[in-house]
Amino acid sequence: MSTEPPRNDRFLRALRREPVDRTPVWLMRQAGRYLPEYRATRAQAGSFLNLAKNPELACEVTLQPLRRFPLDAAILFSDILTVPDAMGLGLYFVDGEGPKFERPISSAADIDRLAVPDMEGELRYVMDAVRTIRRELDGSVPLIGFSGSPWTLACYMVEGGGSSNYAKVKSLAMNDPAAMHRLLEVTTDAVIAYLSAQRAAGAQALQVFDTWGGVLSPAMYREFSLRYLQRIAAELPRGDGADNTPLILFGKGNAGYLEDLAVCGAEAVGVDWTVELGEAARRTRGNVAIQGNLDPVALYAQPDAIRHAVGHALDSYAIGNGGSREGHVFNLGHGLSPDMQPEHVAVLVNAVHELSAQRQI
Ligand code: CP3
Repeated sequence: MSTEPPRNDRFLRALRREPVDRTPVWLMRQAGRYLPEYRATRAQAGSFLNLAKNPELACEVTLQPLRRFPLDAAILFSDILTVPDAMGLGLYFVDGEGPKFERPISSAADIDRLAVPDMEGELRYVMDAVRTIRRELDGSVPLIGFSGSPWTLACYMVEGGGSSNYAKVKSLAMNDPAAMHRLLEVTTDAVIAYLSAQRAAGAQALQVFDTWGGVLSPAMYREFSLRYLQRIAAELPRGDGADNTPLILFGKGNAGYLEDLAVCGAEAVGVDWTVELGEAARRTRGNVAIQGNLDPVALYAQPDAIRHAVGHALDSYAIGNGGSREGHVFNLGHGLSPDMQPEHVAVLVNAVHELSAQRQI
């Protein structure tokens, strides 16, 4: 795998807090149902899981948004739930209901049977997709690999699917914290092995999605989510200096914990729209790059309103960062939705490039 920097390396430079000609932008869920070409490839595959498990088709849908918009990074097309699936839980999707597990975790005995899956065995299809996408990108933009956070994976593993109140997983943590920690430890081992294998296969940046950390009380967040994010940041091997593969810790509802996230050793922190970017920059004190944070709902607004919101995010970051744009990766605060218009996504991506170039400081 080539270790040459990609021709467009704005995203990697921003993660290293180096100067860039314009603010780099990519979007969570940039590949997905809002694109008609995605819906066509998914129909050809028959199901989402068939699509994710076929490296050639996963590569095709990864590249689709890059053909439409001048995005500064590609993200592997896969899912965070591939890991618990490979741990034997049996992932399946019911249309309109989201992901489900055939064999969720319901006892301490279930936890004790879990083991780290083989990254070039059960999860080989993910690594093959990374290798295929790197080959097809041919050095144009960097490729992001990803994993769910241990807590977010545990939510799905214990609830057996999505949940409105996380009653099962929270009560397991309260009733039997030792068992919960055993679950989180083995899941963290799996996450570290998964991210390392994606790096070895060619991923040039790595993101951890802690989508459900924000549903915890602060005391429980520190014990059951933050502690394992810290372990990943400390233990994930990812090279030094120019050879470093940056790690981004994205969390929904993580605004209360930015000081802690900034010093756990990750290169970047991703935030949602409930915190001003300038405040995030100030509170992290130059220890990390910041990724975010436009409210995805802005994409339902008119083009002028989208451009206005982009300008606000760019200015807020620069003001909080002592007048400099360095260290900002533009993104949404969460993912794109299936009913969003591709034309509005184009307005957003172009506005980030145009406005950040005009306002260069
Ligand atoms: O960002 C990207 O473009 C890369 C692909 C990606 C997907 N899922 C594709 C996907 C990524 C990074 C994920 C991560 C993921 N998956 C998260 C963390 C990020 C977040 O959104 O909070 C979570 C919680 C999941 C679990 C999951 N998988 C959910 C909740 C769903 C949606 C179910 C639904 O029907 O809306 C999925 C399925 C899924 N993963 C889809 C896509 C494009 C939709 C599947 C389809 O085509 O029907």
